[in-house]
Amino acid sequence: MIEGIKGEFSALFGQDPEVISFAPGRVNIIGEHTDYNGGLVLPAAIKYGTYVAASRAEDGRIEVYSENAGWEKWKAGSFEKRKSFGDYLRGVLKFMDAPAEGMRIYIKSSLPVGSGLSSSAALEVSFAVAIQKIFSLEISGIEIVKVCHMAESEFVGVKCGIMDQFVSFFAKKEHLILLNTQNLHHEYIPFPSSLTLAMVDTGIRRSLSSSRYNQRREECKRALEGVRKIFPEVENLSRVNEEMLFSARDFMDETAFKRAMHVISENQRVSHLADFLRAGDLCMVEKIMKLAHHSLSEDFEVSLPEIDGMVEEISSLPFVYGARLTGAGFGGFIVALLLKGKEKELQDNINRPVLFSGPWSGAEILYSVS
Ligand code: GLA
Repeated sequence: MIEGIKGEFSALFGQDPEVISFAPGRVNIIGEHTDYNGGLVLPAAIKYGTYVAASRAEDGRIEVYSENAGWEKWKAGSFEKRKSFGDYLRGVLKFMDAPAEGMRIYIKSSLPVGSGLSSSAALEVSFAVAIQKIFSLEISGIEIVKVCHMAESEFVGVKCGIMDQFVSFFAKKEHLILLNTQNLHHEYIPFPSSLTLAMVDTGIRRSLSSSRYNQRREECKRALEGVRKIFPEVENLSRVNEEMLFSARDFMDETAFKRAMHVISENQRVSHLADFLRAGDLCMVEKIMKLAHHSLSEDFEVSLPEIDGMVEEISSLPFVYGARLTGAGFGGFIVALLLKGKEKELQDNINRPVLFSGPWSGAEILYSVS
């Protein structure tokens, strides 16, 4: 792979790259729409991700070629927003406070774009680690994660939580990350060695920046405002329990109430699922996955009838230990916990494209001249 990328880079730019980085996409096992409510998430990185090859250039110009999106060029130090893939890179450069130097950049990804497997976080994180290496920037892992999150939420303008960038950087092979998004405390949970992850493409695409994700955030905010009428000190929805929510029910609309119910119950499901994984109780893992999808569909309303049907079909297969819609919703991928060795059988049973991967490791530098 490295030799191939080097060759493609020099064919494009007539020079060798100084650095090649890789950052993975992610699949969230459970903990959906909790990360912007100070809650718990349990994602894994996957082997599909984004490669960035880069080198400095003396002409003060940044020239990028992305295999998926083509060319983009701009003057180093300029942070104009263009509503194009280059915005992710300009966002990272801006918040990383990188030197305003010219660069040549080649981007290659094995992730389906806009599908809910975090192609944008993989791009931001891969680019950030490449930039850190090239300019020898003193910046910690957690700062890289925060820079990438700001690039997406503040520069690009998708008000996402921090889960995707966090897992793309900090993931560990054969483990899930149990992350508390309020304080970023995290713990690695070993993934059962008998299982692997299957990501089933629903074939339905949604755009994260489209209004529905931000609308859900607004609805959660309304619920929190309602709860604060009685509990003014409460920091976020993940610090609210059911009793508190019911006592504040009259201070919010029905939609906001349902969204909060999902967040509260989802946080409990994340802890329980982590416990059942630790205990090796796959039967309970499966039950919790089912409840989680139900809550996403009924209370958070980010599923669709055809997706519910697919989830049911996949869950009913004897070698699947739970399946649910993963990511922001409204389409994208269904995650399934699959018995290893049953990849072909799954594929034969459900006539849809599937990606397979065990939990993968986080971002890394694959090649560097220095
Ligand atoms: C998207 C966002 C994440 C998270 C999920 C929903 O993937 O990027 O931050 O909010 O949706 O759990």
